[in-house]
Amino acid sequence: MSVGAGVDVGVLKREIKKTYASVSEEPETDFIFPTGRAWAEDLDYPEELANVPESSVESFAGVANPFSLGRLQPGEHVLDLGSGAGTDSLVAAQMVGPEGSVVGIDMTPEMVAKARASAAATGLANVEFLEAEAEQLPFPDARFDVVISNGVIDLIPDKDLVFAELFRVLRPGGRLQLADVTIQRPVSEEGRRNIDLWTG
Ligand SMILES: C[S@@+](CC[C@H](N)C(=O)[O-])C[C@H]1O[C@@H](n2cnc3c(N)ncnc32)[C@H](O)[C@@H]1O
Repeated sequence: MSVGAGVDVGVLKREIKKTYASVSEEPETDFIFPTGRAWAEDLDYPEELANVPESSVESFAGVANPFSLGRLQPGEHVLDLGSGAGTDSLVAAQMVGPEGSVVGIDMTPEMVAKARASAAATGLANVEFLEAEAEQLPFPDARFDVVISNGVIDLIPDKDLVFAELFRVLRPGGRLQLADVTIQRPVSEEGRRNIDLWTG
């Protein structure tokens, strides 16, 4: 058993995958967190959202808008950490254009499959999706100019390891544009062990 921050990481990952498989496959469900196009519009997503297929946006489960920190530039190479059904990656792929590229990684196979199908539907050739874990990224050092991520790092107990991986794959002087949940006070041991608090 691998334990991080007081929680069994294997159990936590199984539960997270179950939750997000159902966000992928049953997007009409009333989850305890907001999802879908109306939520992305509330977050003031950029105009590129309009070109993202419904099959991705219906399973959008971000917590905020990473593009509110700045637009991505043409030609940039981007990692979307925990890309889910692909909404942010497909917005990013339009911003960086054909000279740039976007790779989305996610550990939930149903999400990766949905993101790939949407990418194929858009015809965008500069975006791909891989099944991978944030704690062990399958990329060489300094591979990316920018990392975007939305609602993912809060789900991962070993944050030092994730940030070490992000700084490894980011080129010197690259950027992080992270949308995430933070807390201002320490969480009790009991709270940390409560899987529902992590996955919700
Ligand atoms: C809240 S959803 C957000 C998805 C997407 N960023 C969006 O905005 O719609 C969190 C995603 O993170 C993925 N995830 C959680 N922990 C992960 C990890 N350790 N490695 C890779 N993906 C992870 C889940 O599978 C899920 O798709």
